[in-house]
Amino acid sequence: MSQDIRAFFNEKAPFWDAMQEIPEGKLRALLSELPIARAGVILDVGSGTGVLIPFLRELFAPSLIVELDIAEAMLAEARKKFGDDGIRYVHGDAKEVVFTETFDAIICYSSFPHFEDKEETLRHLLAFLKDNGVFAILHTASREHINALHAQNEVTRNHLLPEGNEVARMLAGLGLSVLVVRDTPEEYLVAGLKKGVQ
Ligand SMILES: C[S@@+](CC[C@H](N)C(=O)[O-])C[C@H]1O[C@@H](n2cnc3c(N)ncnc32)[C@H](O)[C@@H]1O
Repeated sequence: MSQDIRAFFNEKAPFWDAMQEIPEGKLRALLSELPIARAGVILDVGSGTGVLIPFLRELFAPSLIVELDIAEAMLAEARKKFGDDGIRYVHGDAKEVVFTETFDAIICYSSFPHFEDKEETLRHLLAFLKDNGVFAILHTASREHINALHAQNEVTRNHLLPEGNEVARMLAGLGLSVLVVRDTPEEYLVAGLKKGVQ
């Protein structure tokens, strides 16, 4: 587990929500594009303080949301706000956590740049995605903006968001059908569907 990134976000956790301005319309529009089954089980990777929870509930009425984060203080903030009803909180590194459930959707919102070994992390997470499940990486700002922001801090300096096409190639190489690749000055969305056995 990367202790640097864990400490970095643990330290930010109490102030995280005050530091964020959630672009609600854009986030809702991006999530609405994903063909996620209603009443399913959704994994929110790098979930932080649970920013996605209200949106997931509104759009997909999931039976369970699993909040995964490497920083336990972020999860504690989420639990304070949302409790345990329909939510399971998992503390761990996305590249090695073993889940007891499989998922109808796995979403990385504003977290993918921080994963140390991106392809291995994707491979690991996708093992827990159901056939016909949706995998998505999304950001409500441009790749350039995110990379410039991360460049300002010693801990996140090398936490780069790769080009959308590069991530799409990784997903295709791992057996997904790519649904959307959007890497624009406004937003970033790369999503794929896990093909079922024919
Ligand atoms: C920029 S924050 C975004 C949090 C939340 N998704 C939001 O938009 O408010 C990135 C989050 O990813 C988490 N994270 C970073 N690397 C991780 C990893 N390898 N496994 C799980 N979580 C990770 C951090 O602890 C942090 O909470």
